[in-house]
Amino acid sequence: MIRDNSYYYAVGLMSGTSMDGIDAALIRIRLRPLKLRLHTFQTYPYGNALQSRVLAAAEGQATTTAELAALHDDLGEVFAQAVLKLCRKAKVSLGQLAWIGSHGQTVFHSKQHTLQLAEPAIIAQKTGVKTVADFRPADMAAGGLGAPLTPYFNYHYFRQPRQAVLFQNIGGIGNVTYIPAGQHPDQVIAFDTGPGNMVMDGVMRALSGGSQHYDKGGDLAAQGNVHEELLKNWLTDGFIKQRPPKACGREQYGAAFVSDILKQAKAHKLTEADLLATVTALTAESIAGNCRRFIFKQNKLPAEMIVGGGGCKNKTLMKILAVALPELNVVSADERGLNSDAAEAIAFAFLAGETLAGRPNNLSSVTGAKRSCVLGKIVY
Ligand SMILES: Nc1ncnc2c1ncn2[C@@H]1O[C@H](COP(=O)(O)OP(=O)(O)O)[C@@H](O)[C@H]1O
Ligand SMILES: [Mg+2]
Repeated sequence: MIRDNSYYYAVGLMSGTSMDGIDAALIRIRLRPLKLRLHTFQTYPYGNALQSRVLAAAEGQATTTAELAALHDDLGEVFAQAVLKLCRKAKVSLGQLAWIGSHGQTVFHSKQHTLQLAEPAIIAQKTGVKTVADFRPADMAAGGLGAPLTPYFNYHYFRQPRQAVLFQNIGGIGNVTYIPAGQHPDQVIAFDTGPGNMVMDGVMRALSGGSQHYDKGGDLAAQGNVHEELLKNWLTDGFIKQRPPKACGREQYGAAFVSDILKQAKAHKLTEADLLATVTALTAESIAGNCRRFIFKQNKLPAEMIVGGGGCKNKTLMKILAVALPELNVVSADERGLNSDAAEAIAFAFLAGETLAGRPNNLSSVTGAKRSCVLGKIVY
């Protein structure tokens, strides 16, 4: 039995669309009133071989059911190992953990179907800890997009009685949450804004022949100039302009999108730095444009945008974002006391706690579901 007013140790496991590795967060948490402290955090990178298999599956390359089944179990194994290593690092025993919340690895997501891999039974068996996983299907069965789910956490964690809060996660995909001052969860606005790091990463991989997975610090982009005509053209992308509720992934901004961009860049004779600068601007401007069109027009302007996810380490991206949104202050989550790398893993630890407490934990107004429901599957 999970009691609202007791303190627990819990672990959240997340690997996003960047597929860079497993973010593992050990937290100390009381569900109500919510009190949460990050105890230990670590990212456990996928090895190259595993990352290639996950990427192949997620890019929709031809595969076999045997490979998918094996990948599901192999990911379950490395997710379980992540918990074992994290607890060792934290000097907290597995027996002290009350639960694990595992998002798993998305390899497919559309309006109709979703698939997260990393067998939770393996996580539960290897750790001996009750594990909640597979959060998305319940929301989809209730008519929702199954995404985004972290706004439920953002709402509970960030809400302010007298001030609107804007949280922008920049993982593989960009995702925004707007929480009006002192409001009911039904008033939260949240949706995917389009590419996060995914397009920049894809271009970087292509330019380096696969040896570099991202533009560290945004250093290469900082040396280039934005090609305004191409940027304007790319910003007419259907998803970026689409009205929320909306969710996207590798299906929109994966290999096919990147290969098209590379072709156009070649035709316009862009240097590598100019290309990186332009796709970095694409990410920043898609975020700014979505906030303006679908949030600021109809609502009170927040004082600042809090940015989480790996994207806040990209200084060039953060700079362009700040210039694109002069009406507010752009700060990283770290500056507001939340570890920007850990934010989503923490969110899934919290979502799992809510599931175990039997509380509906989707925001139906955000996902478009017909009703709120208790997400996830519990494995003992
Ligand atoms: N030091 C850095 N400089 C620039 N970009 C970074 C840095 N560290 C991480 N990133 C970017 O963040 C991405 C990972 O972000 P993350 O929030 O883990 O995404 P996801 O949730 O999709 O896994 C990397 O692929 C990379 O693009
Ligand atoms: Mg990641």
